[in-house]
Amino acid sequence: MSQEHIDRGGGALFRGEGQDGLLHRAFLRGEGFSAEDVRRSPVIGIATTASELNPCNAGLASLAQEVKAGVRAAGGLPLEFPTISLSEPFSRPSSMYLRNLMSMDVEEMVRASPIDGVVLLGGCDKTIPAQLMGALSAGLPAMVLAAGPRPVSCVGDNREFTVDDVWPLCEQRRVGALDDGAWAELEGGVNVGVGTCNVMGTATTMAAVAEVLGFALPGSTLPAAASRSRRAVARGTGEAIVAAVGRGEAPGTRVTLESLENAFRAITALGGSTNAVIHLEAIAGRAGLRIGRDRLDEWSRTTPVLADVRPGGRYLLEHLEAAGGVVEVLRRLGDRIHAGAPAADGRTWGEVLAATPPVLAGPDHPALRTEQDPVAPRGALRLMSGTLAPDGCVMKLAAGAPARHRARVVVFDGLEDLHARIDDPDLEVEADTVLVLRGLGMVGAPGMPEVGHLPIPARLHRQGVRDMVRISDARMSGTSTGSVVLHVSPESAVGGPLARLRTGDQVVIDAEAGTLDHCVPAAEFAAREPAPPPPLPARGFARLQARHALQPHEGCDLDFLVAVPEGTEQSAAEGDA
Ligand code: FES
Repeated sequence: MSQEHIDRGGGALFRGEGQDGLLHRAFLRGEGFSAEDVRRSPVIGIATTASELNPCNAGLASLAQEVKAGVRAAGGLPLEFPTISLSEPFSRPSSMYLRNLMSMDVEEMVRASPIDGVVLLGGCDKTIPAQLMGALSAGLPAMVLAAGPRPVSCVGDNREFTVDDVWPLCEQRRVGALDDGAWAELEGGVNVGVGTCNVMGTATTMAAVAEVLGFALPGSTLPAAASRSRRAVARGTGEAIVAAVGRGEAPGTRVTLESLENAFRAITALGGSTNAVIHLEAIAGRAGLRIGRDRLDEWSRTTPVLADVRPGGRYLLEHLEAAGGVVEVLRRLGDRIHAGAPAADGRTWGEVLAATPPVLAGPDHPALRTEQDPVAPRGALRLMSGTLAPDGCVMKLAAGAPARHRARVVVFDGLEDLHARIDDPDLEVEADTVLVLRGLGMVGAPGMPEVGHLPIPARLHRQGVRDMVRISDARMSGTSTGSVVLHVSPESAVGGPLARLRTGDQVVIDAEAGTLDHCVPAAEFAAREPAPPPPLPARGFARLQARHALQPHEGCDLDFLVAVPEGTEQSAAEGDA
């Protein structure tokens, strides 16, 4: 291997006439590629997360073939390679724990491989954020292909059963109100095909972010996983990455405050997941930007909710697709959208909108409303702060939730404590009590699992209570709803105020004012012994994460992965161990 090999990298290594070029071509010939194949250009990496341990992404195996066909049709050489694949239900202790590790895998594999550009095949919640973060740091032209939503199923009398319908049934089972037959039917009926969750959960929200940021083709978010449209998107993505390489588009040029604003406004209008707040901040950080709580809150409060889709709304993703999908959402947001921001096909969003016939709003397309007749005049996401969350927290306003709530809290220290006591008939809890779950942030859990949506105590559930105000430093599934304050920052495990809260304290949550405060005298509160932090893991990635994970308001990235301004890099001798 020559120094040129080490310094130069990229697909050009296949095109040289010296030793490196010969060996690169020779190794591919050994795989069965023809003499003509190995001289095709550009060379496009197809980073796949297809995995049997990630059922949401399993369909990517066949979609990769369509992407390759697109690359070949445009003259390029596609080379598929695997990366870490994170399944939301299968990853322990949580998929978020491994998001940053996956981003490092993507970054290093893209940088190390002899490729000119990359198509990132993702889907399940953390995969697309990790891929975007890694690709931004790697700096090669990159595009995203999302797996697409899985089919809607049928369970019992529910002919349009979506993933969010599972949670109430699980609650019923927990309190003994769902029999064995119905429980068994649920197992076979929840997922009737591959693909990502079939509502506006985190996966679809992040696919929309990729589309609006200009990494995924316009119109690519909503076609179903196994549909002809999804296959066409895959092929188009293969063709488009070759064009993007031809234009020499570094991914960082697409992530600006304007494109981030477009993305956040779009997901606000779509009623997207709270998790997107963290991922967007992490993506911004890889581009050397910081969005900040105030900006996000202002964007949310000045953007109407237009999509009436599950889990918060009434209609299915396929209805939203028929109503024009993400492209039509951007059109209906009008001047709020920066028209000069790039789309993934080389055009600006202004050019895309001008060339796309509008879909008429009205009774034929009830899943997407207009600014004059919105689902809600302002976004449901509130970026809040206060004495319990000095660096912020987020709440997705639920229908019927009180705008201001002052009440006594019951505090749970971690999941073991929660499960040991939540259904205790003697637990002093009423419908207006605030349930607090702490010790489950990025460092505490570790990895901020999606458990902030605490179960309703069984006694209250049997009385008909279906929502309570809850507070946590954890996250919540994008497919859940309820009056839940999440991502409390700093988290309890690093000494955030939540660590000093005690059962019986009063707290006040004012969603309109955007505040979360305890009502304990400041001196008394400060003098309290905090809940103890977890021990520092002895080794491995757990230790790295515990030492370097940023808090939610900074995107929960590892501090050394955030982009540093040019000229401020340290030498190896100066850096920490
Ligand atoms: Fe994978 Fe929802 S569990 S997308």
